[in-house]
Amino acid sequence: MVAPRILILGPPGAGKGTQSSNLAQEYGVEHVTTGDALRANKQMDISDMDAEYDTPAAYMDAGDLVPDKVVNAIVEKALSQANGFVLDGYPRNLEQAAELEGMTDLDVVLSLDVSREELIDRLTGRRVCDDCSANYHVEFSPPEEAGVCDECGGDLIQRDDDNEGSVRNRLDVFDENTQPVIDHYRNDDDFVVIDGEQTPGEVWADIRAAVDAQIE
Ligand code: AP5
Repeated sequence: MVAPRILILGPPGAGKGTQSSNLAQEYGVEHVTTGDALRANKQMDISDMDAEYDTPAAYMDAGDLVPDKVVNAIVEKALSQANGFVLDGYPRNLEQAAELEGMTDLDVVLSLDVSREELIDRLTGRRVCDDCSANYHVEFSPPEEAGVCDECGGDLIQRDDDNEGSVRNRLDVFDENTQPVIDHYRNDDDFVVIDGEQTPGEVWADIRAAVDAQIE
């Protein structure tokens, strides 16, 4: 089987990270995520890129988009090194979508659909492991011991942008910038909408069936 090229779209908190891990494992492809790449380089000096702020951190903590130039370069490098991928967090506006079209073809475009109130609950309750990045939720998927990662024993922390003010801004930024990207792909043959408001297991079953149907 040729390694599939999968794009996963959806608002903040829709479960893109959770389901991308499943996809990467199931299909043996690279998880290319701009959010994780930027978090690992939050203090990078971008002052020579004609940007409003000198580092990605200032944009990210407020829930605003990091400049396209920074993100396009990260994605182009990662995709050129990947044999099959699940791309998560990009494109987030129509300019990035046009860049992506010049970089690669796609086999499947998944769009996770979740209501705004559910997204706010999920993001404000999310905790992530400071060491291995495993994902938890204080109510929906708590660790066995509060504050401690089940996988590696690391500390569970709240992301700087998971406070309610930043979350609401991220959702507004999504409506304005990223919803048009979803509409751009909507009529393509490889576009599939997934009900992301089901349990994680049910969402995964729908995603796997959709990907298998597209690549067989
Ligand atoms: P990024 O890291 O991409 O954040 P995001 O899009 O806001 O997405 P999240 O990671 O918050 O949510 P998710 O959909 O992955 O959900 P998850 O699986 O964790 O980007 C962060 C920032 O980086 C941006 O704001 C921006 O500043 C910058 N950036 C990134 N890409 C950029 C780009 N292309 N251009 C410019 N700037 C960019 O799940 C969320 C929670 O819900 C978890 O607690 C999980 O356990 C729980 N959960 C998951 N599924 C379910 C379910 N089915 N039922 C119940 N709970 C569930």
